[in-house]
Order: sequence, then structure tokens, then C-alpha cells
Amino acid sequence: MTADYFDHVTEATEWLRGHGFGGGDVGLVLGSGLGAFAQTMSEPFGVDYAAVPHWPAANIIGHAGKIVGGTVANRRVLALSGRAHFYEGHDLRTVTFAVRVLSRLGVRKLILTNAAGGINTAFTQGALMVIDDHLNLLGSNPLVGPNDDRLGPRFPDMTEVYSKRLRSVADATAAAIGLPIQHGIYVAVHGPSYETPAEIRAFRTLGADAVGMSTVPEAIVARQMGMEVLGISCITNMAAGVLPQPLHHDEVMETAQRVRAEFSALLEGIIGRL
Ligand code: HPA
Repeated sequence: MTADYFDHVTEATEWLRGHGFGGGDVGLVLGSGLGAFAQTMSEPFGVDYAAVPHWPAANIIGHAGKIVGGTVANRRVLALSGRAHFYEGHDLRTVTFAVRVLSRLGVRKLILTNAAGGINTAFTQGALMVIDDHLNLLGSNPLVGPNDDRLGPRFPDMTEVYSKRLRSVADATAAAIGLPIQHGIYVAVHGPSYETPAEIRAFRTLGADAVGMSTVPEAIVARQMGMEVLGISCITNMAAGVLPQPLHHDEVMETAQRVRAEFSALLEGIIGRL
């Protein structure tokens, strides 16, 4: 990891601190179609990614490309509406730049959300899944390259990427609001093409319950920096070959928008219990 990268993270952090984004309690990354939660925060203040030095652009449909600060259940939240993806051609250090900055801003708890395809046939479209663990099939890792010890250790432990404590908080919240919730293993793939039915069968054999193109690099970096991580997938579609129909990004967006109210209630309840 070059000195440049550390300096860029520092410059973005200082810029955001100078614009009132310092000292959030909870960081939140909002996945495809799930950005509306940012509008439910009290006293929101936002900035476009393009205004922040070195911040990678998010230019995918369904991603606003904004950092929004505000309060949810009396907690100061920094929400990222839109993320950089590996499939856009960014390297994984760029993909995880935002998480580095959130950590440097003082965020200790990070909630990562995403849209995912359901591999587990017991799941239905629109289900919400707490990520218990992940399979990294991206073919790379955000920590590849020379290590900068100022950002974290060379060989960080990944025994409990997704905090047991935060997963119980998610369960307690779901129970309190009467929302059924699933648990499972998330497999991250490079994309951007969707998977083949053969790949999905293979992932099922490997133990995966849901598939997506994000989250894992961010979770790895967050753990390297000592943050407590919670991951929540919205099962926007059944994965390739599960149903006799092709996959389409519009379906992903439609489902994410359909479950907006439940998703927001779950997030708000979780944040209130952190
Ligand atoms: N595969 C990969 N990524 C996804 C999917 C999927 O089926 N749905 C939403 N993101």
C-alpha cells in the first residue's frame, strides 16, 4: 500500500471533518435501490461524492453518490448512498476507500447493506438476510499489495467478520417489529454479468445462501481497521436458474423499492439498539 493512498484517505477524512461529518456513531452503506433510507434521517446534511477529494465516483443506476449525515434514533449516522464496485473497473483499494475514511472519521460500527440473489431455495424475493459469514470469490482481496501498518495489520483475523453481537441485535429488532428475517452466507462475485445456473448450483454446494457483487471487500477492510460489522442483504431476486426466467437489473431495483418500508424499520430499530 503506497503512502499516497494513506494521504488520500487522510485528505478526504480532513475535508469531511471540516464540513461537519466528523464523529459519527454508525456508518451505513446503502446498496442498490436501498438509498431511500438516507431520506428518513433527521437533520440530514449531504455532500456529493464528487465534492470530496479522491472519493471514487458511483455512477450506477440506483446509486445516488452522496454521503449523508444525520441522526437516527439519537445516534449520529454517516450513510453512504452508493458505493464503488469492483465490476466498474476500480481496484479493491478504491472500492474500499470510503470504509477507510469512515473509520478514520471515528465510526466504530458499520452496517453494510446490499441487493443479492437468493441461492437458498427457502428464500423468497424481498426477504431480508443477516449475513452470518461470507465466501470471497472475487479473485482478489482489498489488502493485496504492500501493507501500510497505519491502516491495519498485514494478516487480519477473519474468524468473526460479521459481529455476533450485532447479528443478535438484528434478530432482536426483527422480532420486536414482527419482521421475518433470514440468516445465511453471502458469496461475493466479480460481475457484472449475472451468474450462470451452473455457478449458482456450485455456490450452493459450497454453502452459499445469497450472491452479490459487493460488501465483502468493505467488510474485510472494516475488520482490518477493527470496526464492528453487520451485513444485511435484500434478496431482490432468486439467483440464476432457481426460477425459469432470466435476471434483470430492473427487477433488483423494483424489489429493493418494494421492501423499502420494512428495510427502513429494521435499520432504524437496529441503530436504536446499538
Ligand atoms: N447476482 C449477483 N448480484 C446480484 C444479484 C444476483 O442474482 N441480485 C442482486 N445483486
